[in-house]
Amino acid sequence: MGFTIAIDGPAASGKGTISKAVARHYDFGHLDTGLLYRAVGRRMLDGQEPVAAAKALLAEDLAADGLRIPEVAQAASKVAVIPEVRAALVDFQRAYARRAGGAVLDGRDIGTVICPDAEAKLFITASAEVRARRRYDELCANGVQTDYQTVLADTRERDHRDSSRADAPLLAAGDAVVLDTSDMDIGAAVSAAIAAVDAAY
Ligand code: C5P
Repeated sequence: MGFTIAIDGPAASGKGTISKAVARHYDFGHLDTGLLYRAVGRRMLDGQEPVAAAKALLAEDLAADGLRIPEVAQAASKVAVIPEVRAALVDFQRAYARRAGGAVLDGRDIGTVICPDAEAKLFITASAEVRARRRYDELCANGVQTDYQTVLADTRERDHRDSSRADAPLLAAGDAVVLDTSDMDIGAAVSAAIAAVDAAY
């Protein structure tokens, strides 16, 4: 029997790092569902129609270079508004969630839409300022030229688009454990996440 851990939250909340650590802790598979939308966003920037791109998406696309850049993140949040794009990506995510051996899926709508019956649900959040600071530091470390105010504006724009869309908006499931990581370092956040999952096990 599969065991599914749904981890949702806004950009740079720490959910990616937490999800990887939680998957490692339980020896579960991990699917970063943002990569699906980023891969479709990448194809849109290359001139493809997003719904057709989502229907044609292959597992290999998730390993493509250049999916982590800000331009692709914005394109991802634009294609993510389109209901047909979201619909085309549902089966792949649900199949992954039920894989033998357990799965961690992280995204925006895992606990609400993709896996409403997940055995454990977490919603990871932090203030926009803290998240923008983390993203800024990460981009600088990767040699991307930017400034904090641009990253903050970008974070707020993406939050707004993700939260206000009609289909599967960014929202904590009613039965999710909410973890605000604004004042936590990553070690403390990972420990709190594992404690919350253990409580559901
Ligand atoms: O998590 P990440 O920043 O990689 O996600 C990129 C974009 O993909 C998000 O801003 C969001 O619009 C979209 N997304 C989504 N549903 C998910 C995961 C990501 O709409 N489950």
